[in-house]
Amino acid sequence: MLNIIIFGPPGAGKGTQSEYIKERYNLTYISTGQVLRAEIAAGSEIGLKVKDIIDHGGLASDEIVAEIIEKFIVNHSDSNGFLFDGFPRTVKQAEILDNLFKKYNLNLSGVLSLEVPEDILVERMLERGKTSGRADDNIDSIRHRFVEYDQKTKPVLDFYQNKNVLHPIHGVGTIEEIFDNICEVIERL
Ligand code: AP5
Ligand code: MG
Repeated sequence: MLNIIIFGPPGAGKGTQSEYIKERYNLTYISTGQVLRAEIAAGSEIGLKVKDIIDHGGLASDEIVAEIIEKFIVNHSDSNGFLFDGFPRTVKQAEILDNLFKKYNLNLSGVLSLEVPEDILVERMLERGKTSGRADDNIDSIRHRFVEYDQKTKPVLDFYQNKNVLHPIHGVGTIEEIFDNICEVIERL
């Protein structure tokens, strides 16, 4: 069973590559960002709590996100393997995932970490912002997303490096080239 985390800064291509990975390896996919945006769109209790934070590029609370992830795992207990996009995003969340994996008898196969320079990330997100309707694809929110990433999310890399499951992926090039790099790593897991 393959259980994969796709990791990377805002705009790194996590969502784009996930579409291909989940198809090729038949994985059950969750993007916490997508789930949270859907909660906002639905005007749910969670959505109301996180809307302002997310629009300005901050992180939702670990508790909210952990609840979403556990529900998802439980609801897909027949899964052939999971692909997590945008989670975990703090060391606390990585510890929570560890505990969930123990609780539900799952094993982490690897963490694919997309590496892309910041100027390219900004360009990609501003370009997408012209049409995406994503409230956080503006320059101020993008800047804040990077600050959050540097302060809270980057330490997650050390967490997985210490467990020997971290796989850096060169994230610049065509979508196909990057997908090839990813598949090479997955085939070795
Ligand atoms: P989330 O939705 O996860 O956003 P993000 O991490 O900021 O990343 P993006 O989705 O913007 O980028 P991506 O890496 O998926 O790249 P994409 O494929 O889209 O999170 C949003 C917010 O939700 C967070 O800020 C936080 O508030 C909250 N949140 C989510 N998870 C949370 C958690 N666990 N805890 C707390 N809060 C949480 O690509 C980007 C663009 O580039 C696209 O337009 C794409 O077409 C283009 N592109 C992709 N690949 C290439 C390529 N090779 N060449 C050229 N262009 C490319
Ligand atoms: Mg995404």
